[in-house]
Amino acid sequence: MIRIGVYGLGKISHRVIQGILYANNADLYAVCSSSLEKANAFKKEYSAEKAYDDYEQMLHDQNLDMIYICTPNYLHAKHIQMALKNFKHVICEKPMCVSSKELDECFDYAKKQNCFLMEAHKTVFTPLNQKLFEMISNGEIGQVKSIDAQYATRLTESISEWHFNQAGAGCMFDIGVYPICYANRMANSKIKQVFRLKDEALIEYENGCVAHIATSWDVSMENTSHIYGTKGSITCKNFWKNIVALINENRMIVSQKSDFTGEIEHACACVEKGLIESPVMSRMASLEILKVIGV
Ligand SMILES: NC(=O)c1ccc[n+]([C@@H]2O[C@H](COP(=O)([O-])OP(=O)(O)OC[C@H]3O[C@@H](n4cnc5c(N)ncnc54)[C@H](OP(=O)(O)O)[C@@H]3O)[C@@H](O)[C@H]2O)c1
Repeated sequence: MIRIGVYGLGKISHRVIQGILYANNADLYAVCSSSLEKANAFKKEYSAEKAYDDYEQMLHDQNLDMIYICTPNYLHAKHIQMALKNFKHVICEKPMCVSSKELDECFDYAKKQNCFLMEAHKTVFTPLNQKLFEMISNGEIGQVKSIDAQYATRLTESISEWHFNQAGAGCMFDIGVYPICYANRMANSKIKQVFRLKDEALIEYENGCVAHIATSWDVSMENTSHIYGTKGSITCKNFWKNIVALINENRMIVSQKSDFTGEIEHACACVEKGLIESPVMSRMASLEILKVIGV
């Protein structure tokens, strides 16, 4: 069992913690907030062993194996490096870093400290998307030639200020990374070139596949992915968390307790194997996402 400490008890942390609680190889050991009252409330609600109101203090806890970082994007690199300095393994919410330079520095440091580091892209690890990847790899829809994926949401509800005024701000970093990581994974090839226009991009992969990705905070979109192969196609609405897809006209459904559990089980399995980098969500996979954003 990998004992995890969650840092940053903001909006997404509840769903991350649910994901940890369902994981078969993870234990919610600690929670850490700027407010002890909040940390204690989370500790009680989710039966964690420890509540901290100081990140450094949590990092000195010898019982802790891994930190799950849920803080604002512009602080991720700093919080990753603090964890690595204390020889903690790290899984960090997307976008892990706001530039390729920052990302390389984090992975270089993880290597030096012999610690595991992975960007938390749940999209790649949901049961449905793992199954779809396997089907595509087995040639079930032939050669994948074209991918179209979007994630847009109108900003009707309150969203934190750092989404607008800090490094790593904007909808591409916030939700554009979902269609990007999905397209990169399903294309299963390195990127050859990217044509970016505002919040959309055309990606050509070395294997000849072309993807169109789009995101927006201003308009609603279908929020659907289409994967077109030479022998068939796959369609999936809300592809970053869904349990249902259409393979040609046939409905496929999988079971899922939490859309976060897959990525957490994968990261913990990597740590148990002594890996310092995921073979799936690797440094290269994270760099390829930033390549599409152009940073
Ligand atoms: N994978 C997904 O589906 C998904 C969905 C949404 C967001 N995310 C990612 O998760 C991360 C957090 O997003 P969120 O929506 O939960 O953000 P949020 O509501 O703003 O919460 C961020 C938390 O980080 C902590 N924090 C530490 N230092 C801070 C500082 N200087 N300023 C502000 N907060 C600070 C705070 O925790 P305390 O209040 O406990 O002190 C704060 O509540 C982001 O990287 C985001 O992209 C992922």
